[in-house]
Amino acid sequence: MTARRPGSNSLLLEQIGTLLAVPPGPLAGPRMRQVPAIHDAAVLIRDGRIAWFGPGDQAPLDEGSDTLSAGGGCVIPGLIDPHTHIPFIGDRSGEFIRRLAGESYLSIMQAGGGIRATARAVRNATLDELVTANLPRLQRMLQNGVTRVECKSGYGLAPEHELKQLEAIRELARRQPIDLEATYLAAHTLPEEYEGRADEFIELMADPRLLSDIAARGLARFCDVFCDRGAFTVEQARRLMERAIAAGLRLKVHADELAQIGASHLAGQMQAVSADHLECIDQAGIMALKAAGTIAVVLPGTSFYLGIPHCDARRLIEAGLPVALATDFNPGSCMIESLPWIMNIACCQLRMLPNEVLTACTANAAAALAVHRRAGAIEVGFDADLVVLDVTSLDEWFYTPGRPRVRLVIKAGQVVFRRPEHPV
Ligand code: NIG
Ligand code: FE
Repeated sequence: MTARRPGSNSLLLEQIGTLLAVPPGPLAGPRMRQVPAIHDAAVLIRDGRIAWFGPGDQAPLDEGSDTLSAGGGCVIPGLIDPHTHIPFIGDRSGEFIRRLAGESYLSIMQAGGGIRATARAVRNATLDELVTANLPRLQRMLQNGVTRVECKSGYGLAPEHELKQLEAIRELARRQPIDLEATYLAAHTLPEEYEGRADEFIELMADPRLLSDIAARGLARFCDVFCDRGAFTVEQARRLMERAIAAGLRLKVHADELAQIGASHLAGQMQAVSADHLECIDQAGIMALKAAGTIAVVLPGTSFYLGIPHCDARRLIEAGLPVALATDFNPGSCMIESLPWIMNIACCQLRMLPNEVLTACTANAAAALAVHRRAGAIEVGFDADLVVLDVTSLDEWFYTPGRPRVRLVIKAGQVVFRRPEHPV
């Protein structure tokens, strides 16, 4: 299937049954449904970037190109997961069972479990242990067609341990092919030793020297905060966000997950790159996000896993927002690492259409990470991150949940995963 020519830096991916040529994001509202489909297509890759795409019989013939057949399958841009809590460590399966028996996420958290439980494990772990525990997770994500992942700190709950998590993300990025985008989740929950002193904790985590150090060393591009009932108030989140902007970090917000306290409204006011969760978003929040061009990142795996009402993604799309989807992969509220599974939940339970789900996990997910000028789309000059699926259409993929359909993953022009039962 592959004709290798040593030294060649050009690859023609051919015999593509359908190329879903997702345009660059962000794609808002009805534009999420508009994905051009090119049948019998080819993509020419040069130096890790898309050099040409179109009908296969018009493909330019590069002297000395390698060729690779897509075997008549569908080709999509590499999937992007713009919200995970990698790297974490430890086991909270006990909480999962308690929730099945009726306890709520919030009451477990208030009883000292939840984020604090993972924080204890992360504080006790070395950087190496964090890397070792999380590398296989990223390897499995790659096999699901994911080529870019956002990773957060937020389980250290102290500068030293947050920095250890950010350094673990940097090391994980070196050790495997997925591009990682790092976020400093400065305020996730209050650690025990700061009980009753939330403002002091914000001062500690939003210390301008700490934020500047993180930005200057490139340890994170984003700063995030859990602004919700039982977490941090709008005032505390705003203070942190102002400091983060001053240090050169961009903003993300965990907003409107458990209650409506004005978090998505704040995200819009502060021009956050994304507002994530949004199960309890209100009209003021929708208008604020729209005015700011903030990406609405919907996490249906979390509502599925916690058994809480889903975010009304249809309302967001009809309101003209660009919606992205992500796993929120974390040890408490969503232990689902498979983005294709999340895509299925979005179809079956949020009533998102297949093309909307695809743009949510490519072009709009890229916009949620501010990499939409180079990733998340089939566009000349963009990173050649491509996935060959074992289906003839997107409809077939979502119609048959749970079947591994990723045949091949190409990252920056290199084949980084091939499903073994399809030797090529
Ligand atoms: O995004 N909402 C806050 N944080 C995570 C949960 C983290 C945890 O339970 O460990 C979330 O759902
Ligand atoms: Fe989260």
